[in-house]
Amino acid sequence: MTGNEIRKKFLKFFQDRGHLMLPSASLIPQDDPTLLIIGAGMAPFKPFFTGKMKPPATRITTCQKCVRTGDIENVGRTARHHTYFEMLGNFSFGDYFKHEAIAWSWEFLTSPKWVGLDPDRLYPSIYLDDDEAFEIWNKEIGIPEERIFRFGKEDNFWEHGAGPCGPCSEIYYDRGEKYDPDHIGERLFFEEMENDRYVEIWNIVFSQFDCDPTIDRKDYKELPHKNIDTGMGLERITSIIQEGETNFDTDLFLPIIHATEELADVKYAEDKMAYRVIADHIRTVTFALSDGAMFDRAGRGYVLRRILRRAVRYGKNIGIDKPFLYTLVDVVVDNMKEFYDYLPEKAEFVKEAVKKEEVAFHKTLSQGEKKIKDVIAHSD
Ligand code: SER
Repeated sequence: MTGNEIRKKFLKFFQDRGHLMLPSASLIPQDDPTLLIIGAGMAPFKPFFTGKMKPPATRITTCQKCVRTGDIENVGRTARHHTYFEMLGNFSFGDYFKHEAIAWSWEFLTSPKWVGLDPDRLYPSIYLDDDEAFEIWNKEIGIPEERIFRFGKEDNFWEHGAGPCGPCSEIYYDRGEKYDPDHIGERLFFEEMENDRYVEIWNIVFSQFDCDPTIDRKDYKELPHKNIDTGMGLERITSIIQEGETNFDTDLFLPIIHATEELADVKYAEDKMAYRVIADHIRTVTFALSDGAMFDRAGRGYVLRRILRRAVRYGKNIGIDKPFLYTLVDVVVDNMKEFYDYLPEKAEFVKEAVKKEEVAFHKTLSQGEKKIKDVIAHSD
């Protein structure tokens, strides 16, 4: 299954179950001064969760473009960090709650009609005292008690600054012995050791509180109704289905990686980190600029400038010493235009802006290098 097919299947599954499918909201937050950029599938729906606005339907499904830069230093270093990713989600605004959300996630992942993962490789986790979720997993879905993990820590309470939040239940997938060289097994999961074997694939948030970061969690106010907010990273589920070693080894990234190989002195296998940084960052820049963001000295534009400059630096590591990122924009657009059909009409503008920014950065870098050389030459 291709990444495009997985995205389509997810949305169809929830449409068949009464959800209205909405297009991804822009990465640029609308009427939300608390956010620089959209970083979660639920972010555009905050007013629907809190009851401030009436949603167009009480069940919605989306594939939301997201940008998160908090972990940027890990991008390329790990199998699963990205600055740009797509979040598949199903949402209930005062409609269904735990039973349906859990049952549907299980059906989508395990039914051969949909994704067809081996149920014995899936492990749910729940929030410490969430006996209701425990009972659903155990009695209704039939997962043995010893395979359900009560985390009881921050990991299983989802909040993202002020706004809707709640306890959550996550689903993990066991990628097998191959990713467990020391044969540690389930302890990796239950003792929360850093590992590439058990990976979280789906987060089901029982969104029922309103987070106020200035007060204690136990004092959060209840939202006017109980909601569901789920998130499954498209890149992650794609890497599991396509059995990629990392998220980057899937058809969502490989076309960009192969196009970069044409320009570089070394192959992907020789410097995976550089290739992954470049592939990730050019996706971020292409989507953000297509949504109307622009490089700048402050705010969102500065974040984008840092991302582009990081990609330029990694390009140098693999022998690309001239502007090149702009040539990858078309590869991103071609790979993504089936779902994001507005991308081709933005491509020329994005390419020009990226090229201009690259040229300016190369100039800054060579001026800097010249200055350093001068200092060294006059230092004795
Ligand atoms: N909001 C949750 C997350 O981003 C679930 O969608 O993980």
